[in-house]
Amino acid sequence: MASLPKLSTVFTWAIYFIPVYIFILDPLVRGYFPGLLAPPRDSDDIFDESSAPGPGINLTDDSFVSPEDGVPFSCPSAEGYSVHLLSHEPLIMYIENFISETEANHILDMSVNKYTPSIVYDGQTERIDPTKRLSDRALLDRDDTVRCLEDRARAFQGWRPDLYIERMWAQRYNASGHYRHHYDWAGSLARGGDRFSTFMVYLEADCEGGGTNFPRLRMPDGEGWCRFLDCEQDGKGKGKGKAEMGITFKPIKGNAVFWENLRQDGTGYPETWHAAFPVTKGTKVGLNVWSWYQPKRRNRLGR
Ligand SMILES: *[C@@H]1O[C@H](CO)[C@@H](O)[C@H](O)[C@H]1NC(C)=O
Ligand SMILES: *[C@@H]1O[C@H](CO)[C@@H](O)[C@H](O)[C@H]1NC(C)=O
Repeated sequence: MASLPKLSTVFTWAIYFIPVYIFILDPLVRGYFPGLLAPPRDSDDIFDESSAPGPGINLTDDSFVSPEDGVPFSCPSAEGYSVHLLSHEPLIMYIENFISETEANHILDMSVNKYTPSIVYDGQTERIDPTKRLSDRALLDRDDTVRCLEDRARAFQGWRPDLYIERMWAQRYNASGHYRHHYDWAGSLARGGDRFSTFMVYLEADCEGGGTNFPRLRMPDGEGWCRFLDCEQDGKGKGKGKAEMGITFKPIKGNAVFWENLRQDGTGYPETWHAAFPVTKGTKVGLNVWSWYQPKRRNRLGR
């Protein structure tokens, strides 16, 4: 019968294994299989629909992304937005007046006849599921206004050549429209790209309800935040206390929430789990501006 290794031998091996894990195994796994380190998924986890442009992600396909194609466009003299930092890690910023009233109204007008029901993607299939998401969406033509927004989103993020702006969609929520908690990232870097960042822009906010909720974020201390965050939320209907609700952005026309979805190593931030709370009255229209990151070599964020 084989004798068991001595306890001291096991201990010595364990000591050797620690640096091997820290310096070799962990970086290897993070570099090559970022998906393995994604947070555990509930069966309920859903990802945004356009995370699924097919099995191989093609960031040169201009039906999917908006390449810098040299088409000239002119932007109105920028009126300027103001930025408020909410969190460093993950990076989350609130942007006042990201889009002007004229621009927002123009996008609302151009999308009005183009809405079709929004779909959800569960990692395998796309489908309409009103229990998870009830809204209509419209793909925007790349006219001057949309190109100006693309340009603004690129400039905001420092003109990174490894980011690709996804074609923009307006999302319209009627009364009872909502979108259950989900991630915008899909853990798909190994397939050629993933959503690095999100601008959630409010185009129309003539509504009650419809806040953008992040249950895993903590309410910041500054009083000034009550202009943008729901400081009165009561967790109605869910039996949850204020703290468990996280934070909820009030929809305010022209303003935007910006956040980064991916860590430096390409894994997704669990803190970016978010939802569109049900609109109880009126209509909300949001605009998603997503930037895809495509690794140049290996699966590292080249920062
Ligand atoms: C990506 O899309 C472009 C434009 O549609 C196409 O020319 C190219 O062949 C596609 N590449 C792959 C790998 O599918
Ligand atoms: C929202 O309202 C519009 C206009 O009344 C309607 O056409 C559309 O089907 C509604 N969408 C949903 C998801 O209820």
